[in-house]
Amino acid sequence: MSMTIKVSEQACGASITGIDLTRTLSDNEINEIRALWLEHHVLSFPDQAINDDELERFTLYFGNFGDDPFIAPIPGRNNIIAVKRTADEKVPIFADNWHTDWSFQENPPAGTCLYGKIIPTQGGDTLFANQHLALEKMPSLLRKKLEGKQAIHSALVPYSPGGGYGDKDREMGRSMDIRASDEAFSKQLHPIIKQHPETKREGIYGTIGYIIGIDGMDNQDALKLLMELSAWQCQEEFIYKHKWKKDMLIMWDNRSVLHRATGGYEGQERLLHRTTVAAYGK
Ligand code: SIN
Repeated sequence: MSMTIKVSEQACGASITGIDLTRTLSDNEINEIRALWLEHHVLSFPDQAINDDELERFTLYFGNFGDDPFIAPIPGRNNIIAVKRTADEKVPIFADNWHTDWSFQENPPAGTCLYGKIIPTQGGDTLFANQHLALEKMPSLLRKKLEGKQAIHSALVPYSPGGGYGDKDREMGRSMDIRASDEAFSKQLHPIIKQHPETKREGIYGTIGYIIGIDGMDNQDALKLLMELSAWQCQEEFIYKHKWKKDMLIMWDNRSVLHRATGGYEGQERLLHRTTVAAYGK
């Protein structure tokens, strides 16, 4: 049976059926999925009753495992984290600010795989913002202000001990095993306008949050420009809204899209298993 591809009518995203991820894929199938991933940036595979071994095997088709800091892996695995929330949890929703995964690393992950194990009956969508499209449509005046600039990325806002997922958050009883630490204070530069290493398409890389400043720019001016950028890059016309179902696997390209979680499922549990694919060639 060959794969059937249904392209979303939104800014990116495609759904793939006619493939069984409980079996080993052929090189042809892997190459086809990789090409679709590069084209559509977010792929979803509904109705895949896979276990953790199969999730890991799928991830490794596309590169090595990424290095996932600050969140402890699930018991018995080194490369799977649980994105979870219990029905009675009161802390803020995890990852509900726009970001691209681990952009504060020197070699951030190319991709992320997320598998739905317990999905609430409503809410909990994941939003994606297509950063090639956002750059393509960007007014030249804003583009000129960003060209040649290097953003300063850091995990300090969420993951330092005094940060959003720091000591206070832990005391409030978050169910995710987040380990904030002083490592979050380190900084990494990446160009704001960056070429995708595989497709060579330019896109905007990252946003305010993990981006805490702009190299060589006064803080106030940098903040103003980053706010202007974030207002542009996450507009409705650039967004794909992903609706979850149990047993659905999705895979996104961190070099092409920003993403964020959403709430709206108060009183219900949500559990997903997540892996990352290392930077291209790493
Ligand atoms: C994530 O950013 O990995 C989590 C997304 C989600 O929970 O929808």
